[in-house]
Amino acid sequence: MEKSININYNQLAISELDQLDQELVTAAKEASKNAYAPYSKFNVGAALKLGNGDIIVGNNQENIAYPSGLCAERVALFNAASNHPNESIETIAVYAASESFDYKDIVKPCGACRQVMCEYEIKQSANIKVILVNETEAIVIDKAGDLLPFIFDASGLKDS
Ligand code: THU
Repeated sequence: MEKSININYNQLAISELDQLDQELVTAAKEASKNAYAPYSKFNVGAALKLGNGDIIVGNNQENIAYPSGLCAERVALFNAASNHPNESIETIAVYAASESFDYKDIVKPCGACRQVMCEYEIKQSANIKVILVNETEAIVIDKAGDLLPFIFDASGLKDS
């Protein structure tokens, strides 16, 4: 039987986002400036809004041992989860730019970052809104889980 999965998202101008989301986008853009990305020259910034209103940021951190580096999203998510373990993560905004080449796209999180977002979403039993932006436009997904259909989760594992 053929089945399908539908993903809903909104695409709009950043100026059409509500005030708090625009602030989060600005924080993600600012955070990208502190990326350590000497190898890819691709600077990514992520900003999370927590349930208490705090904004937590992260940026990609690379390493000459390439796989040792980490994406901006996971730097921010692990920062929030380790320092604010009891606060929910309401929204994540992500932005990317390069000074070395022309990158105008709306950045899309990698699979590993989607997996991590989804686990926190499941853990907190509340949606994480995902806002992906370039200089002018935003894609808004209401729920991180929508970005990762057929996620690997713990439901079938022993003792879970
Ligand atoms: N990167 C992120 O930080 N987030 C993404 O969503 C995509 C990729 C980083 C990883 C690496 O430092 C660089 O961008 C190039 O892949």
